[in-house]
Amino acid sequence: MTRIIGFFNQKGGTAKTTSTLNVAAALAEQGKRILTVDLDPQASLTMATGIDVISIDLSVYDLLLDDRVGIAEVALPTTIAGVDIVPSHPDLAAAELELLNVLERERQLDNRLREADLGTYDYVLIDSPPALNIISINILVAIRELVIPIEPHPLSIMVLRRLFETVARIRRLNPALDVLGFLPTKVHHSSRLAADMLLHLEEQYPDYPLLPAIPLSVRGAESIAERISILQYMPRSTVAAAYRDVGAWIERAASSSEGGATRDVARV
Ligand SMILES: Nc1ncnc2c1ncn2[C@@H]1O[C@H](COP(=O)(O)OP(=O)(O)OP(=O)(O)O)[C@@H](O)[C@H]1O
Ligand SMILES: [Mg+2]
Repeated sequence: MTRIIGFFNQKGGTAKTTSTLNVAAALAEQGKRILTVDLDPQASLTMATGIDVISIDLSVYDLLLDDRVGIAEVALPTTIAGVDIVPSHPDLAAAELELLNVLERERQLDNRLREADLGTYDYVLIDSPPALNIISINILVAIRELVIPIEPHPLSIMVLRRLFETVARIRRLNPALDVLGFLPTKVHHSSRLAADMLLHLEEQYPDYPLLPAIPLSVRGAESIAERISILQYMPRSTVAAAYRDVGAWIERAASSSEGGATRDVARV
């Protein structure tokens, strides 16, 4: 069965896009087939995977707003073998308003995923915008598993309360939603901010595991300029190794999230 995982945090710059891309690359290295979905009008993931946003005919915008457009028509291959993408487009910024007139506007992505033949994919990995809007709601309704990328920053902890309030409300629409855990990103081993954040997460959210931490890497962004993953650009780096660990962690988590034996999101 295809696992549908969202990388979501309404705070900007927590490495949602970097993590979606490199977890996809790590799982693809293990022979898995991945469909990534870019739901951010910034289209960072689309551009980072080598797609020319201006030249594409159909994007996730059409997927959300035109019932006749299905995933198979929108998905494109990327620069990473085994990884496809449903590209984003700057037009997606307008979808917020346009969806107001659409019936079941919060279920558009979910409906399209349900209608699609995802059989060839082991995973659907979804990148989110830094917002709590109708697009993020569509993501939270459509996914089965949620990963929360979080960076050591004083505001990171503050936004979590709102995030979990939203998750609790979404559960009425998507009872199966499972919080897989926090993915600490940009972690500098000697940073006090990072140590404090990890401690806080362990104390305040004991039900939600910490995924393997991604170290801070000033060179990581260079891979985006090359439009490939960090795993391809710096295969022996600590960041690449960490994303491989995250991929393996997510693979192992399958057994606990299948068959309904999930951690309980209601306890937030
Ligand atoms: N491990 C890391 N070390 C250092 N910098 C990183 C790391 N991971 C990501 N970055 C950088 O942090 C910035 C934000 O990363 P990214 O775009 O992945 O975050 P995001 O959560 O998707 O942002 P947004 O909320 O704008 O969509 C980028 O410049 C990226 O290159
Ligand atoms: Mg992003």
